[in-house]
Amino acid sequence: MAVIFAMAGSAIGLGNIWRFPYIVGEHGGAAFVLIYIVSTLLISMPVFVAEVSVGRRSRTSAYGALGRLSPGKWIWKAMGLLTVFIPLMIASYYSVIGGWSVNYLIKACSLSFLSQSPDEVTGMFGTFISSSWTPLVFHMLFLAACCMVVAGGVKSGIEKFSKLTIPMLFVLVLVILVYSVTLPGASVGVNYLLKPDFSQLTPRTFAYALGQSFYSLSLGMGCIITYGSYVSSKENILASSAGTAVSDLLFAILAGFAIMPAVFAAGIEPGAGPGLIFQSIPFIFTKMGMQLPLVSTVVSVLFFLTIVVAAMTSCISLVEVGVAYLWDRYSIRRPVGSLIIFMLCGLAGVLCSLSFGPLSSLTVGGKCIFDLFDWFASNILLLLAAFAVVVFVGFVMKKEDVWDEVTNSGAFKVNVKLFNLLYFLIKWVAPVALTLIFITNFIY
Ligand code: TRP
Repeated sequence: MAVIFAMAGSAIGLGNIWRFPYIVGEHGGAAFVLIYIVSTLLISMPVFVAEVSVGRRSRTSAYGALGRLSPGKWIWKAMGLLTVFIPLMIASYYSVIGGWSVNYLIKACSLSFLSQSPDEVTGMFGTFISSSWTPLVFHMLFLAACCMVVAGGVKSGIEKFSKLTIPMLFVLVLVILVYSVTLPGASVGVNYLLKPDFSQLTPRTFAYALGQSFYSLSLGMGCIITYGSYVSSKENILASSAGTAVSDLLFAILAGFAIMPAVFAAGIEPGAGPGLIFQSIPFIFTKMGMQLPLVSTVVSVLFFLTIVVAAMTSCISLVEVGVAYLWDRYSIRRPVGSLIIFMLCGLAGVLCSLSFGPLSSLTVGGKCIFDLFDWFASNILLLLAAFAVVVFVGFVMKKEDVWDEVTNSGAFKVNVKLFNLLYFLIKWVAPVALTLIFITNFIY
């Protein structure tokens, strides 16, 4: 049971609360959400089962897992290397957003949402983000905290951490949701999420929806394989995967309904990009503070605190992959490994952070460095690594072995039809969908 919390801790993070709303806003609302839900159920959930199975069967971290199950084949080793590289790339810019969250936590503690008008609070984000030093300092602080936790070795720590914070995050998002939908002008935001406008759909919508779904579930790289290797042999993989996927999905949707109405009520452009929640959420707190200053302060502090913690549990799972690799491959001990990862990701993150300020004019194909990191990792590399895993499970592993993992060698009764459907989704639907979407990224 505890491992569900660790996996949910990795899955539930900035991807749900920060990335999901802004990607929805950039891709037209309800129609995107619909495709996101379908891709999560039909593709991501089966891939999740596949990754946990590979992890548990190989009982080793991401880098070695595929190679160990199919010795001697260089391609699986190369894929293993990719699954180490991607998390580090994500950790670099993830910790930038983690840093923003820490900064906003401090703002909440120092009552800055109460002393300004709603418009000033929305505008505050622009000033913060374009300054060069403050975001950098917070990025480094956040990353250092995550690396320090990893250095200590954290398996049980993460589980305990997540057990407390995830339910708390759910409650807080519900509180904000209730307040947000009652703001004047909020109904436009609710409709934006409920009434699909299919004329807005393009092939890119599908690519971003699947990319987001993978991102949110921490798929397509070492994280879930590594955590899968910690899953006990008594655990029911199907139930834990479904549990994690459904809570992650639910959380993203709740976050959407908490944030979008506020975005419209505040008159913010839904396609405003990565800053979306940092503009809309403080707006809510300022409004709330005009009537109920104490409640607003308490809710805002708790809210940013839980975001910071949720971001940390996810970032820790990213850093962990790299540190586990350095240990497995080069016997580099955890504290030294964590320091190496800190320096690598810290440095790469500097570029991402500055790309909102002094380096904003440096773009490739219209994307700044931050967007480029995010796009390349989540729309290209994640899909590639996930493709490798599903092909591996579908074509290299024996079907009986997959059945064995899913049913714990017959200990759990699993409906044969359900298993066959799952297997079909892993073996055929997922690889075909991944290929189509991969190509879409380059054509459209
Ligand atoms: N899923 C996390 C989130 O939603 C982010 C994350 C952690 C991640 N590990 C990952 C994303 C692995 C992709 C791959 O915030």
